[in-house]
Amino acid sequence: MDRSNKPSAIGVSASIPQPSVSLRDNIVEATLPSGESVTIYLYGATVTSWKLANGKEQLFVSETASLDGSKPIRGGIPVVFPVFGPPPKDHATSSLPQHGFARNSTWEFLGKSSSESLGKDRTGDNSVKLDFGLSRPMLTEEFQKAWAYDFGLVYSVTLTKESLETSLQVQNKGSQNFDFQVLMHTYFKIDDIADIRVKSLESKTYVDKTQNAAVITETSPAIEINKETDRVYQSLDPKVPIIVSSATDDKPIFSITREGLNDVVVWNPWIEKAKGMADFSPDEAFKNMICVEAGSVVGWQTLEAGDFWEGGQTIRPRL
Ligand code: BG6
Repeated sequence: MDRSNKPSAIGVSASIPQPSVSLRDNIVEATLPSGESVTIYLYGATVTSWKLANGKEQLFVSETASLDGSKPIRGGIPVVFPVFGPPPKDHATSSLPQHGFARNSTWEFLGKSSSESLGKDRTGDNSVKLDFGLSRPMLTEEFQKAWAYDFGLVYSVTLTKESLETSLQVQNKGSQNFDFQVLMHTYFKIDDIADIRVKSLESKTYVDKTQNAAVITETSPAIEINKETDRVYQSLDPKVPIIVSSATDDKPIFSITREGLNDVVVWNPWIEKAKGMADFSPDEAFKNMICVEAGSVVGWQTLEAGDFWEGGQTIRPRL
């Protein structure tokens, strides 16, 4: 029987605004209906832009960053794996470059998923998750020779109206255990380094890379950056947000919570180092960036054959 007034399929997804996602020239761009956006290069799965609805950029990228895949991108959020810093001698990572191979390998875009926001937010779907993959066969021959293990990485970048989340899943696909370190090397864009204070690190131990790796206990509740700074804070509680705040109004500019990432690196190259980096420009831009890098870089994570590890960060900006 034909029911003339039978309910028709409601075109929910057609009528509710959805995030837009595009992949062009190895660059993924996503925009939420409310205007926030994110850009990720497949080279390094490097997030190079994160804008709020008002168009304000949250990440610093050097004007002379190489974007052609010839070297890691100087800015945004490079992914450091499987070694942080210069690899130690006589270690399985010894033949790799500084910070490993993830930031200088070309990842694949695995696809997007968006939140089921119906009922919660009728103005549209309010988040989008973008997944990227890297596995051993995708590495250059040089990197395959330099690191012997079979692995799979899935890196997820989730954009919401209130946050950017980046998380990494590491899988050991081989038959031998491997050790790794991991870090999300976030370059935050700031107006003026003189106004920045980094909080939640008081009484924590750090290794000061500018002082021959001296081990120091932090005494400041609000760290000022007024010289070259390269510190590895360790054994933090990932649930306690690291706060990058403004001295002017004492309010957070960014908060960073972590999962599985118990160390945090605070880095600013300052005047001389900034001048010395060919891909860092303009020279004065050290005033407009601070790296607060969530990682697991003190000691090693050992991943047994067949096992998975996962860690990530959630960054909330001042809205
Ligand atoms: C930081 C390190 O994470 O990265 C610094 O602690 C290093 O020592 C900085 O200088 C930048 O590294 P790179 O390899 O991108 O120049």
